[in-house]
Amino acid sequence: MKNKDKVILFDTTLRDGEQAPGASMNEREKLEIARILEKLGVDVIEAGFPVISDGDFNCVKTVAKNIKKSTVCGLARSIKRDIDAATDALRLAKKKRIHVFLATSKIHMQHKLKKNKEEILKMAVDAVKYARESFEDVEFSPEDASRTEKEFLYRILESVIVAGAKTVNIPDTVGYSVPEEFGKLIDDINNNVPNINKAVISVHCHNDLGLGVANSLSAVKNGARQVECTINGIGERAGNASMEEIVMALKTRHDYYGCYTDINTPLICRASHLVSKYTGFVVAPNKAIVGHNAFRHEAGIHQDGVLKERTTYEIMRPEDVGFLETGLVLGKHSGRHAVKERLKNLGVDLKDQELDAAFERFKKVADKKKQVFDEDLIAIAEDEVKIFKKTWQLESLISKSGTNISPEVEVVIKSKGKSYSKVSSGDGPIDACYKAIDAIVKKKGILLDYSIQSVSRGKDALGEVMVKVDFDGKVMIAHGTSTDILEASAKAYINAINKVLVQEMNKTK
Ligand code: KIV
Ligand code: ZN
Repeated sequence: MKNKDKVILFDTTLRDGEQAPGASMNEREKLEIARILEKLGVDVIEAGFPVISDGDFNCVKTVAKNIKKSTVCGLARSIKRDIDAATDALRLAKKKRIHVFLATSKIHMQHKLKKNKEEILKMAVDAVKYARESFEDVEFSPEDASRTEKEFLYRILESVIVAGAKTVNIPDTVGYSVPEEFGKLIDDINNNVPNINKAVISVHCHNDLGLGVANSLSAVKNGARQVECTINGIGERAGNASMEEIVMALKTRHDYYGCYTDINTPLICRASHLVSKYTGFVVAPNKAIVGHNAFRHEAGIHQDGVLKERTTYEIMRPEDVGFLETGLVLGKHSGRHAVKERLKNLGVDLKDQELDAAFERFKKVADKKKQVFDEDLIAIAEDEVKIFKKTWQLESLISKSGTNISPEVEVVIKSKGKSYSKVSSGDGPIDACYKAIDAIVKKKGILLDYSIQSVSRGKDALGEVMVKVDFDGKVMIAHGTSTDILEASAKAYINAINKVLVQEMNKTK
């Protein structure tokens, strides 16, 4: 029996989230995100739009093969070719769903599709019937629903439910709606679509007016029982409704909404961090729930209040969303088992070989830094996880720079057991270092973006460098960490080269 208070969490970070300009992720990164979404307890993972490219097809296939607890979903337009591609990509999924969509607003039907209402109605019904030949679980979305004529929307929804849709999703595609209006739309659908009790009402809200989460919550209050959202709210234009905000609003204000999700909230920050890392989209410090300052109290009066009684100024506990309180956890005398257990508690599961590498690196860092914080440990582990094959690896670096001398860097990097070295000069040590690496690997990368931030606190903190590099039109985002910022910069750049090499190798296979 369906529980009427449960809100189904449908995550579309890997599909709509990835549609954010510049957010593209490779197959391994997507699989890693799918794994954390599964651990989070997400009910449905929309893994991609299989017909759109070979890359998307393969990602959906890989996620479908590896994810067992969550339902894996693929997107399709209301045409056979799309539905066939999704059917193929999802063949190996333990639990699978197809998400079929078709625009229904006057503006989209007239200008984009050049079809009248009857043609659209037929296309939608035919698509759902065809999808049902391969899928038990079919979701239908009337795209731009919030700007669709209501009577027509009711007709479409009734017809696709008769055709076999189990979920009807109401997208606010262009983020035009406002909370009272959107909530009323859901209520009207409940009251005017005769067979609506045979389907789950879902909502999918974009954030163009900054109302994605508010609209989704208003819909839940009015009977929607599936919410589509993304980690960190990434997505087309201003993004989608943010998962962490919806989940924590439902949890914190259960008194008001009376609904719950099955999300394992202490893993939220970990998921947010991974998505930010792989997309290169930095989370704003004041971002609700996962921003760096989300639980920081600066004002003395607030600090005083929190010390006396936490609930004076805190409506959620930081640990409930996995916010790390920079507690000192490990030092150079800590053993492999302690490192493994701590990482596990932080949501990072390493294979034996990866753990060996991470532990070796941990020992080196612990030697340099007396205090190794949780954030440091995660950064070390992520550096060692083989997200991609490391064709090139940094062996050593010597740099000479100062106020009145031209910077010069000697880089030694190795591949397949052989070491190569090069000395280069440049505008600064990073420029010199990247020139030397380019010369050795015989590639020329254009640095589009570079940022560095400290992983934890203290002058001896690990620095994490993010680079976005263009190699002949292929843009790669990569990271590197070290207590030495030039070394972190070199590692990030070499990781970007490794990523592009893997992509090139996969293409020629
Ligand atoms: O925003 C939108 O309308 C969509 C649909 C495909 C559901 O992403
Ligand atoms: Zn969307």
